[in-house]
Amino acid sequence: MFEHWGAPAGFAVVVPRDDGAADLDGPFVEPELWRGGIGRKLVEEAALFAQALEARELFASANSRSEPFYAKCGFKPAGRLESPHGPISVMSRALV
Ligand SMILES: CC(C)(COP(=O)(O)OP(=O)(O)OC[C@H]1O[C@@H](n2cnc3c(N)ncnc32)[C@H](O)[C@@H]1OP(=O)(O)O)[C@@H](O)C(=O)NCCC(=O)NCCS
Repeated sequence: MFEHWGAPAGFAVVVPRDDGAADLDGPFVEPELWRGGIGRKLVEEAALFAQALEARELFASANSRSEPFYAKCGFKPAGRLESPHGPISVMSRALV
């Protein structure tokens, strides 16, 4: 979780997988704080946390609005899924 002036500003969750990778859930940032660098900080923190868990790759599910954000954070397209809310891009980032 990330705080801004003592108030919760955003969070991300790392979920280890059985295949040696990890899933990134979120990040979610308070809308009034978007584009201030908090989302990237959360991704970097999540990547470090996943590495500490010895995950080799971090996966994220992106919709059309969050895809450019993940691309800026070093994620590459890794497939597509269908969801009730439309297509979702699976994106991944190698952890070295
Ligand atoms: C996606 C989200 C986490 C981004 O958080 P943020 O704090 O605004 O992101 P940052 O300010 O750290 O942005 C990092 C980079 O991505 C870019 N970026 C962020 N949102 C973007 C968007 N919607 N479209 C294009 N680029 C975007 C920023 O401009 C920045 O680029 P730069 O390094 O060239 O300046 C935030 O918009 C959010 O919580 N959205 C709703 C929840 C969501 O969709 N979460 C992700 C999938 S579940």
